[in-house]
Amino acid sequence: MFDRSFLPPVCLSICLLPPRSDDASAVRTIVFTTATRPASTPIARDLFAEIDELKRDLNAIVLAHYYQDADIQDAADYIGDSLGLARQAAETDADVIVFAGVHFMAETAKILNPDKLVLLPDLDAGCSLADSCPPDAFARFKAQHPGAIVVSYINCTAAIKALSDVICTSSNAVDLVNQLPADQPIIFAPDRNLGRYVMEQTGRELILWDGSCIVHEIFSEKKLVQLKVQHPEAEVLAHPECELPVLAHADFIGSTTALLKRAQVSDRQAFIVATEPGIIHQMEKAMPAKIFIPAPPEGNCACNECPHMRLNTLEKLRDAMVNRQPEITLPEDIRVAALAPIQKMLEMSR
Ligand code: 13P
Ligand code: SF4
Repeated sequence: MFDRSFLPPVCLSICLLPPRSDDASAVRTIVFTTATRPASTPIARDLFAEIDELKRDLNAIVLAHYYQDADIQDAADYIGDSLGLARQAAETDADVIVFAGVHFMAETAKILNPDKLVLLPDLDAGCSLADSCPPDAFARFKAQHPGAIVVSYINCTAAIKALSDVICTSSNAVDLVNQLPADQPIIFAPDRNLGRYVMEQTGRELILWDGSCIVHEIFSEKKLVQLKVQHPEAEVLAHPECELPVLAHADFIGSTTALLKRAQVSDRQAFIVATEPGIIHQMEKAMPAKIFIPAPPEGNCACNECPHMRLNTLEKLRDAMVNRQPEITLPEDIRVAALAPIQKMLEMSR
């Protein structure tokens, strides 16, 4: 038997293995861990196999957003945009939901499933947009506009959802606002960029909360234009969280799922993608012959990658299932108040 006594509590070793499925660039990992498994179990395991086994043991489902690392996407049972993930969370009969995304997404799953265990691999995986809308300040803002319906983007905390009438996502925001009575004043929170896009698409005046996403505001319009000149054949796909000057250069605007579908039906062979580049993993898997170019951020950073989403790792995902934590919990009064506007969204977007 292998002597583990000289190993530190957690010892990670990475080696090259044949890539998983069709991802030719993937490096697979073997993880040696002494901290999280009983002494009798083997210490060298294929992490993907280990996660699959834990899923079976726990009757767990792994839900992943497109902005997660490629490895995490490959380990997921369902990959989607915020609306798709909320629908999956509402419908699953799994006992445990492992949410490979950010806090507000896992929180939404918990609001829909109070009796299930909902795990988030890294509890610090937050969201700059959700953080830009503190509940006390938003309650005061709401009080300044009595009679207005509150439409909140799902990228907000449970406390903001609890102050809202209907939740929307980037894939249904235009449609939901179009369904509201024409003479009804509407507060739209927290993303001013999505709000402005919805105003443009619906012709409705919205009362906007002044929040934004650090990732989608970092794209450089100047560099995007230069890239378009270099690749005149490429179609520009953009997420509506981008600022209007970037959206003005887009050929197609939509949620992450909509961008993926657009690339599939388009007859173009090259695409410039103005959203978090994690989505490119699914694009390349679905369309290996097509070329996907991430839209460049300002400066020379990798700051178009969401620092919150990228806190999750495959190891943390495995550990969350082994340890049954970090767990999402919520005060019941907030959960019940936040549930109604989420259910309203699910009804209105059928
Ligand atoms: P969608 O999932 O609706 O495309 O939104 C992207 C996003 O920013 C999630 O945080
Ligand atoms: Fe929040 Fe932006 Fe990251 Fe989405 S990409 S989770 S909106 S910070």
